[in-house]
Amino acid sequence: MEAKAVVSNQAGLNEKLDEVVSRHLRHTFKKPYAEHSLAAFAELEQWLAKHSAKPLVLDSCCGVGESTAVLAQRHPEAVVVGVDKSAHRLGKHAHYASAQDNYLVLRADLNDLWRLLVEHGLKPSHHYLLYPNPWPKAAHLGRRWHGGPSFAALLALGGQLEVRSNWQLYVLEFARALQLAGIESQQAEVTLAPITPFERKYMQAGQPCWQLKADLNLA
Ligand SMILES: C[S@@+](CC[C@H](N)C(=O)[O-])C[C@H]1O[C@@H](n2cnc3c(N)ncnc32)[C@H](O)[C@@H]1O
Repeated sequence: MEAKAVVSNQAGLNEKLDEVVSRHLRHTFKKPYAEHSLAAFAELEQWLAKHSAKPLVLDSCCGVGESTAVLAQRHPEAVVVGVDKSAHRLGKHAHYASAQDNYLVLRADLNDLWRLLVEHGLKPSHHYLLYPNPWPKAAHLGRRWHGGPSFAALLALGGQLEVRSNWQLYVLEFARALQLAGIESQQAEVTLAPITPFERKYMQAGQPCWQLKADLNLA
């Protein structure tokens, strides 16, 4: 994998960021759930039933699930669920799997799954969102998680949120979007060893990676 630095026609925060985030925070996202999302949620509920009363750690956009396996080791007291919509990426998980039995990788669309978790009161203690697609073109703000209609569900999930990106503006925009929802965050460069293939690729290419941490329970 070649690691190109993110190229964007945005010089700073997207000029429509405040307006777009505020609009999404005012309106409830009511798109009906896809059948496959309901089926994925049912699978998740069944699996969680076997691990009841343990805290839930969510690894959203887990890709091949390397970070999910790592997080399962770091959170032995919890159950860790990695979610990605790509069957192709999840199909490679065996290569990154660990012997831990406290994690699951699940194929699902987070635009549905986050809302389903909120509706069923399944709130994570920790929520990782590592290297989501940056969608760096200014016109694609709405495809970034903080610029889209699912942002309210991400906030409603609560927990200790950690977002990472190799595009610093993504993290800065995320921080601003959180601020609009009344949540302060801390940002820093990632200095730890990589825990995802994308993170490894960026670090090997000498690109800085950025992280944001926020306590969503303080909203
Ligand atoms: C750049 S990759 C990062 C994967 C992994 N976190 C890593 O760092 O190696 C972004 C991932 O987000 C997933 N993704 C994008 N939109 C999604 C959605 N709506 N629901 C679930 N996964 C999604 C993609 O399939 C892709 O695997």
